Amino acid sequence: MDIQTFIETYAVARKGSDCLKWDALQERFGAEDLLPLWVADMDFKAPPAVEKALIQRVRQGAFGYSQNLPDYFSAFAAWQKKRHGITLESNWLRFSKGVVESIYHLIQIFTAPGDGVLIQPPVYYPFFNAVRETGRKLVENQLVQSADGSWQVDLAAFEKQLATGNVRLFLLCSPHNPVGRIWREAELQALFALCEKYDVLILADEIHQDFDFSETGFVSALQVAEGHFQERLVVVNAPSKTFNLASLLHGHILIPNHELRECFDQKIKPLSQSENNLLGQIAGAAAYRDGEDWFDAVKQVIWENYRYLRDYLVKTTPKIQVSQLEGSYLVWLDLSGLGLTDAQTVEKFIKEDCQLAVDFGSWFSAESSSFIRLNLACSPAVIKQACDRLATGALKRQLSAKRQIK
Ligand SMILES: Cc1ncc(COP(=O)(O)O)c(C=O)c1O
Repeated sequence: MDIQTFIETYAVARKGSDCLKWDALQERFGAEDLLPLWVADMDFKAPPAVEKALIQRVRQGAFGYSQNLPDYFSAFAAWQKKRHGITLESNWLRFSKGVVESIYHLIQIFTAPGDGVLIQPPVYYPFFNAVRETGRKLVENQLVQSADGSWQVDLAAFEKQLATGNVRLFLLCSPHNPVGRIWREAELQALFALCEKYDVLILADEIHQDFDFSETGFVSALQVAEGHFQERLVVVNAPSKTFNLASLLHGHILIPNHELRECFDQKIKPLSQSENNLLGQIAGAAAYRDGEDWFDAVKQVIWENYRYLRDYLVKTTPKIQVSQLEGSYLVWLDLSGLGLTDAQTVEKFIKEDCQLAVDFGSWFSAESSSFIRLNLACSPAVIKQACDRLATGALKRQLSAKRQIK
């Protein structure tokens, strides 16, 4: 399917549908008339197979207690095998209401209050909350930017944190939101070898795994060194990012190690007693089974949006640095070249001069306040408008700076 056909078929006006991205602007940003490019979901309808499966189930009309779908695993595992070459075993799988909830649970199950949990900022901000709000110690290993602008792990600093920070769990974001990295297998292997050396559990959040624009390809933590680290590994993911199903509240926890699984099954009891989400499973299974053409088309739209934004900004506003997009549909922009460095000035510029709603860099790390994160999973028309607003805002800012100098 070409991009134009995809947009004509699936782009949907979400404003007025109680959607967080478009309808909570006043509440979240203090202004209603901003163009929203924040929160990671899509302005597209889910694959038609999802709508069909949900309608069929809803028409039946009874919503009493349900069992897990017997064919869910085969649809999920076939997707993982075909798209990523990952071999899953059905007994590894547990369901959850979402990846963030799983992270809160897994931290509580596999660490004790006061234990160190290592994260690598700038990173998805609920990671900070999950560590703090469960009473664990936040250990931060900042990613570093190399001369070519790419984001890297400081391995020596990582080891130092493991050696001194009483770290029991490493929370990996792979692909990495917000910097858009797809970690190479060698990078993951180096990190995991240190986790092995210091006996640290790895919790890998792979929710963005399907949005892979890298040359080398996404490698799951499950696959590193031919599965060598599976014994100290839990992976969380979901169909929600891939197929735009976030409000159906359904995710996966994969635990290859038998003892870790037994521990999880015991300790989850006081944390969660609710049933699994039937509609989330129905939607996920239908999407994994019949959503591939839709997904390949949405990936193209995202890539074209990225290419347009990058080329447009390079041409018109080179002082805004656009990070390389390898993974996810979120692009990370550095505004420090415009003289915007502190959180307040960036926020004022984005909201007042550009009339945009974005995820601010300061949400992802105190050291990223000059950055913003934009969501590319929308119509090209929205991206074009956002680019114009950024360029115009930057120009106005430069002109007013010149006037002040005179
Ligand atoms: C890295 C990462 N993990 C988890 C989530 C959210 O997952 P869920 O909605 O299943 O809690 C997001 C959403 O943006 C994300 O970027």
